[in-house]
Amino acid sequence: MTLRRNERDFRRYSLLPRPLNGPGTPDLSVQLFGRRLSLPLMIGPTGLAGLMWPGGEAAAARAAAAAGTAYCLSHGSVCRLEDLPASASSNRWMQVFVYRDRSFTAELATRAAAAGYDALVLTTDNQVLGNRERDIRNGFSIPPKFPLRDMLVMTTKITWLMRMRSDLPRITFGNYVREGEPMDIGTMAKRMADLLDPTMSWKDVDALRKVWKGPLILKGILHPDEAREAAKRGVDAIIVSNHGGRQLDGAASGIAALPAIAEAVAGRMPVLLDGGIRRGSDVVKAIALGAACCLIARPQLWGLAIAGEQGVAHVLDIFAKEIARSMTLIGASRVSDLTRGVISSNFGNQTRLEETHA
Ligand SMILES: Cc1cc2nc3c(=O)[nH]c(=O)nc-3n(C[C@H](O)[C@H](O)[C@H](O)COP(=O)(O)O)c2cc1C
Repeated sequence: MTLRRNERDFRRYSLLPRPLNGPGTPDLSVQLFGRRLSLPLMIGPTGLAGLMWPGGEAAAARAAAAAGTAYCLSHGSVCRLEDLPASASSNRWMQVFVYRDRSFTAELATRAAAAGYDALVLTTDNQVLGNRERDIRNGFSIPPKFPLRDMLVMTTKITWLMRMRSDLPRITFGNYVREGEPMDIGTMAKRMADLLDPTMSWKDVDALRKVWKGPLILKGILHPDEAREAAKRGVDAIIVSNHGGRQLDGAASGIAALPAIAEAVAGRMPVLLDGGIRRGSDVVKAIALGAACCLIARPQLWGLAIAGEQGVAHVLDIFAKEIARSMTLIGASRVSDLTRGVISSNFGNQTRLEETHA
């Protein structure tokens, strides 16, 4: 339900253009933590991106850097965080969880600092795994199962198999590997799941704040009270997110939760947003409702799965062009021109209509 809601709720907002503003070619850039992003969109964390393409995480990170934007590596990357390439133009963020073994959370943060990451993202909506029914049906479980049906399907994906043939035996959760211990994906997935901790609390945010000195970002915020608390505790930014509908089914969409959160935070820190962003106009709507920047997860994986680095570059290029076109048609010269004035909400009527046709 939440997965569908993420995309659908963007359609509940309309844009109100003022074309006579004479916007010219719009400037899409935004500033985040003292760094300039060339567009108000970056790549969010997705586990096992290296299963889509050989060296998938590095390929996507290179595409992000070339487009002038940031890449957030998942805790569950195939590569080790130390192996994600850095360059003068790269802007790399690292995502972690609060683990049952708190020292492992601190260890990942310390490793990220040593490897020169620019920001740390603590995902807060994954204390237990969501009931991902499609994953279960497909045997994407812990331990992973490979039913005959799926093995047969795999043999039809010849191009993928050929491309991945040397990487496949080594696919695992790279950040969880301990020297001298088994590193197969089943063992690593179990280690990761066993480490999740439903007792996570604000004390853990405070503890992480002490370990990680750079920008600290909380991902998975949907309630204005949590946003307010985050600002009070010295967190540097939040990501309004429901984990792409993969965790709490029935949760509000990010775009529906955003306006109240932006109001609660009242400019004290940047509010970012992900979930259901499929068009440049979705980014424009999110910025107008108070987001400083947006993140995409699935769209970059689609590009990655089809054409690796080039595929992600193409996805980012489509978004950049769509954002620019939308801004010009709206009459906005710069991202800061995207304010509530360009948005009309039709939540009320639309809800009734959709319920009638459900
Ligand atoms: C395949 C997949 C893997 C993901 N892995 C992670 C992860 O490791 N950490 C995390 O914080 N979020 C993860 N997410 C959630 C995304 O970062 C993001 O919140 C969400 O998917 C955004 O919605 P979108 O896919 O509609 O763009 C994952 C999402 C997908 C689809």
